[in-house]
Amino acid sequence: MYTAIETMRSHRSIRKFKDKAIPEDIIENILTSAQCAATSNFVQAYTIIRVDDPQNRQVIAKLSGSQQWIIDAPVFLVFLADLNRLEAACRKHGKEMADGYMEQFIVATVDTALIGQNTLLAAESLGLGGVFIGAIRNDPKKVCDLLSIPENAYPVFGMCLGYPDDQPPVKPRLPLEGFFRKDAYPAGGVDAVLEAYDKTTSKYYLSRDSNLKDETWSAQMAGFMSKVVRPHMKAFIESKGFCIR
Ligand SMILES: Cc1cc2nc3c(=O)[nH]c(=O)nc-3n(C[C@H](O)[C@H](O)[C@H](O)COP(=O)(O)O)c2cc1C
Repeated sequence: MYTAIETMRSHRSIRKFKDKAIPEDIIENILTSAQCAATSNFVQAYTIIRVDDPQNRQVIAKLSGSQQWIIDAPVFLVFLADLNRLEAACRKHGKEMADGYMEQFIVATVDTALIGQNTLLAAESLGLGGVFIGAIRNDPKKVCDLLSIPENAYPVFGMCLGYPDDQPPVKPRLPLEGFFRKDAYPAGGVDAVLEAYDKTTSKYYLSRDSNLKDETWSAQMAGFMSKVVRPHMKAFIESKGFCIR
């Protein structure tokens, strides 16, 4: 058992797991603790699907860019932003849900991110590790077909969980002054923080035992952010009934 602060500060994504199942009561404890996250207007607009079927895992791993840890992880979860229970609540009370609004998409996605982060944190507090899998959005329609995900719900990310078989170093985050400002957004722009943080991240990448590289954060981000990533998402999200108004 670790304190919440200790657990947060020792977070690193785990992509290699021991061949050891997570007991059911531990999974339940993780999920029922994670669901204590704050939720916008108490909507709890999410559903989590545990994918046990090895064939489905294979398909999801492949469409996610062949991420082997999706196949190997003792537990693989898919987190959906989901308005279906809210629609049922409206129906129960003879009302029609005013659906399709961008605001509901934001609310459901934020709620899903909060329970997702709480899930990983709860797992880490019990000595487990894991990694978010955003790459399930490479082919979100296939994920929906595979897991029978209806309209008014969409897969936001997956998550591998298990007992760590690796001890990667903790990645240095931005310095506090790089993301925390008093009273107003920095008038002088945000360029100044890059210099110092590039030095920190360069040192970190050169000191790693594995996947050692001569790289800085800004170079990495420039490479990533100058590429078009998943341009299908707008049409996909609209096809699920979100963001059409
Ligand atoms: C929403 C989200 C999606 C992510 N998707 C992937 C993924 O598909 N595959 C992967 O290996 N890591 C994925 N990651 C992990 C990030 O790469 C990782 O958190 C980041 O590099 C920081 O490293 P750390 O978690 O070890 O501190 C994702 C993280 C988040 C929050």
